[in-house]
Amino acid sequence: MMSGKRVLITGATNGIGKASALELAKMGAELIIVGRNPQKTERVMNELKFESSNHNIDMLIADLSSIAEIRKLADDFHAKYDSLDVLLNNAGAIFSDYTQSVDGLEMTFALNHVNYFLLTHLLLNTLKQTAQDKGEARIINVSSGAHQAAGGGMKLDTINDEDGYGSFGAYGKSKLANILFTYELARQLEGTNVSVNALHPGFIATGFGHNMNGLMATLTKGIQKLFAKSEDQGAQTPVYLASSPDVKGVTGKYWDNKKAVKSNTISYDRDEQQKLWDYSLDMTGLTANEKVTL
Ligand SMILES: NC(=O)c1ccc[n+]([C@@H]2O[C@H](COP(=O)([O-])OP(=O)(O)OC[C@H]3O[C@@H](n4cnc5c(N)ncnc54)[C@H](OP(=O)(O)O)[C@@H]3O)[C@@H](O)[C@H]2O)c1
Repeated sequence: MMSGKRVLITGATNGIGKASALELAKMGAELIIVGRNPQKTERVMNELKFESSNHNIDMLIADLSSIAEIRKLADDFHAKYDSLDVLLNNAGAIFSDYTQSVDGLEMTFALNHVNYFLLTHLLLNTLKQTAQDKGEARIINVSSGAHQAAGGGMKLDTINDEDGYGSFGAYGKSKLANILFTYELARQLEGTNVSVNALHPGFIATGFGHNMNGLMATLTKGIQKLFAKSEDQGAQTPVYLASSPDVKGVTGKYWDNKKAVKSNTISYDRDEQQKLWDYSLDMTGLTANEKVTL
């Protein structure tokens, strides 16, 4: 079902990304998995090859909270490949304490949003070319139901402030950013045959939250044990959006449990989408050639 399709997955070394990688490998896709730790990424790549009997799996390394490393990742990709059928932006995390990325950005925003925004832009010409040659290409952004907590909007003027930082607030905003970005990009990609969709994978028992401070990590693990679904279940919607013929040409939607559903009202606000877009362009310093051109 996916043979002849090249898929790049970030955060493929654990949780939902790894489970999605395995499923797509079993379907015959050619995979490029992105990890931040070379040893772990190589181990996971070998595991995926063994468990899927698909040896068409490559790996690339980047810390996706760093603008320079995302740029290097895109360069490494372009040095080896000239087409891409599916980009699955999935790597993400929540942070107990206010931290800054190497670029001086609040870490949740840097990893969960700037990463998706910049990597997508840097791979966009390849995705567009693939869509021209093969009829379609797909971008999938793993967001979260936690975006509902950011119903008041991005409040970009305070996004980098240490004062008033809260892990769940910052996480909710970063996941709202995934959806605002998806809706704006879908509009800008009209007529290109490149689709872009966002999704909530469900509440899934993964490594998510295990990096939090002592009590929060213990609490998260306990709640996951009691209520969360399996990683395989978490992979269902991303794999559906990456592979199903039913969603060919469907774009600019938010998905939960393989169904297009409504996201928070604020996510449909064109002004909010545009403000985030402009702010992100500023943060990433994309050149005129790299920006989405209409
Ligand atoms: N689990 C849930 O209930 C849930 C619900 C809604 C949405 N989500 C979303 O699902 C996505 C995947 O999360 P998960 O639940 O599968 O969590 P996870 O098990 O912690 O996996 C996160 C993945 O992201 C990678 N990653 C983290 N920081 C990175 C960095 N700086 N550079 C490069 N890669 C990095 C991790 O790499 P390592 O293997 O090296 O740690 C790992 O592969 C996230 O976007 C999350 O927001 C999860």
